[in-house]
Amino acid sequence: MNTGPLVTTGTALVTGAANGIGRAVALRLRAQGVAVLAVDRDAAGLADAAAAGATPIVADLADAAGRQRVIDSGQGVDYLVNAAGVIRLKPILDFTAEDIRDIYAVNVEAVWLLMSHIGRSMPDGSAIVNLSSVSARLATTQETAVYASSKTAVLSITRSFAYAFAPRGIRVNAVLPGIIDTPMQDNVLDSLARLRGISLEQIATLRLGTVPLGRTATPDECAGLICFLLSPDAAYLTGQAISQDGGLAMW
Ligand SMILES: NC(=O)c1ccc[n+]([C@@H]2O[C@H](COP(=O)([O-])OP(=O)(O)OC[C@H]3O[C@@H](n4cnc5c(N)ncnc54)[C@H](O)[C@@H]3O)[C@@H](O)[C@H]2O)c1
Repeated sequence: MNTGPLVTTGTALVTGAANGIGRAVALRLRAQGVAVLAVDRDAAGLADAAAAGATPIVADLADAAGRQRVIDSGQGVDYLVNAAGVIRLKPILDFTAEDIRDIYAVNVEAVWLLMSHIGRSMPDGSAIVNLSSVSARLATTQETAVYASSKTAVLSITRSFAYAFAPRGIRVNAVLPGIIDTPMQDNVLDSLARLRGISLEQIATLRLGTVPLGRTATPDECAGLICFLLSPDAAYLTGQAISQDGGLAMW
């Protein structure tokens, strides 16, 4: 019977480790004794993970050279968590090809290429978690349409790689967070308030009203689900898309 921490050994590569959910995953894994390669383009933001004993890797995942450095560093890791992500809000009819390319470069291409080129080197029985979003299941926030489509792509590629790696027992799952208190969420609230011409308090109240549990969540709650999915307790879960959204979508 497993009564201790869920993941205690091995090495994890965590992207987006300078802030929010990725940072919380890196800190939780370090606290449990896992070696962590903490990847982000925000060098200063990696200080917390580094202070906890993680190895910082400053790299831009939108850039081919940056991705290659991360792929080289991540060869043979036991866990891969793709938490780096970007969002840009606009009225849906104003999105440009450049917006689509910028968002897809991090949210889709980097996730695909890290899974492919790190995943093939991971030991049999290892695990990958990708960060999708509840927006992949909603059409209500039109200002995040490009982001939502990129997070829908994450669900598809999670299933494809889950199938591809299943013969080696490598599991690939996706988490769909709802409203988690991170710098990205602050950016979403600021942008929505500006685009809709209402106050920050009004938009925060409106958004909270869509959550049946009536609250946002901490990055560490999200890290808890991610670490469960990495752990042997999730050994029979692969190709899954698990919402963590206080009941916002309920599927
Ligand atoms: N916070 C939420 O409510 C929420 C909801 C749904 C999904 N998500 C997803 O969860 C993941 C983590 O989100 P978060 O809220 O912690 O975001 P965040 O903005 O707080 O942190 C994301 C991190 O990714 C890094 N990053 C972005 N682009 C990068 C690049 N090109 N190269 C390297 N690093 C890069 C940023 O520097 C940052 O440290 C994202 O994929 C996000 O889309 C978050």
